[in-house]
Amino acid sequence: MKAAPKPVVTSRQMAIEQVLIEALPYIRRFEGTTFVVKYGGAAMTDDALKAKFAQDLTLLRKVGINVVLVHGGGKEITSMAERLGITSEFVQGQRITSEAMMNVVQMTLAGKLNQDIVQLISRQGGRAVGVSGVDDELLRVKPFTLPSGESLGLVGEVEQVNTAFIDLLCKSGIIPVIAPLGTDERGNLYNVNADTAASSIASALGAEKLIYISDVAGVYVDGMILKTVVKENAAEFIEKGVITGGMIPKVLSAFETLDAGVKKVHLVDGTFAHALLLEVFTDDGIGTQFVLKHERDDHYSIND
Ligand SMILES: Nc1ncnc2c1ncn2[C@@H]1O[C@H](COP(=O)(O)OP(=O)(O)OP(=O)(O)O)[C@@H](O)[C@H]1O
Ligand SMILES: [Mg+2]
Repeated sequence: MKAAPKPVVTSRQMAIEQVLIEALPYIRRFEGTTFVVKYGGAAMTDDALKAKFAQDLTLLRKVGINVVLVHGGGKEITSMAERLGITSEFVQGQRITSEAMMNVVQMTLAGKLNQDIVQLISRQGGRAVGVSGVDDELLRVKPFTLPSGESLGLVGEVEQVNTAFIDLLCKSGIIPVIAPLGTDERGNLYNVNADTAASSIASALGAEKLIYISDVAGVYVDGMILKTVVKENAAEFIEKGVITGGMIPKVLSAFETLDAGVKKVHLVDGTFAHALLLEVFTDDGIGTQFVLKHERDDHYSIND
């Protein structure tokens, strides 16, 4: 009797097999750990990219990683405020928040963007619950003041994170999608910079990683992307005006997060399809990593 012909394995199948097998050690390693992902408003522009980002989150969650998403919305807030005749002003990358601006922030972040992201994840078959830092006092804040003592109005600084509430959602296989608003001990509402909120949440959860997704390829210095930024250089870059605007709270809170014991903080380019997945499941990190001190100057891998 003639032997049945062997099935032909196509090069595409071989490539898929290789990718899946290469991902296995990372999946094993990160299963049960927590990743806090900060999704920058600046990166939330292209519909196709947003869908791919939601796929990445869903996949990470499905392989057993606790994914906590904190989102910004700077661009949308600015354009909504403009439509209402309210001017946006920033100091050190933080939005000055009057009562009128607070209304715009609440409406745009908690009302619109938060639900848009939940919808994106649901569409990919993931489970997500949208909350703001106000829900169950997720983010308890106090008024934020700059080192100079200057106040920015209703801008809050996180004092306490209700981790039990986040854990509850994560344990149910749900991705919490958090809009960065908070309340003080008297229940007054504050706007919290999304980077600093994500940092406080990652620190309080003892997260494995904090990943900032923004609209830049990394931290630029003299036209080049730095693979690594160390703490002592960061202060100098800010002082010299090399790091400006929205990058200031990002960099400052990256180091606060590391000081609090989170192992890895990364800045990843959200204008790149599946940037998050590639960052987590491949050896070569893309974007910029933040480290307290230089250990190995020339090479790094996100998964070290
Ligand atoms: N040295 C630098 N390297 C890279 N980006 C920088 C640097 N200095 C300033 N920036 C600015 O920081 C911006 C990113 O911060 P921004 O607050 O605008 O976005 P985001 O935090 O991703 O979004 P959101 O504030 O809505 O959450 C970049 O688009 C860039 O213009
Ligand atoms: Mg920002």
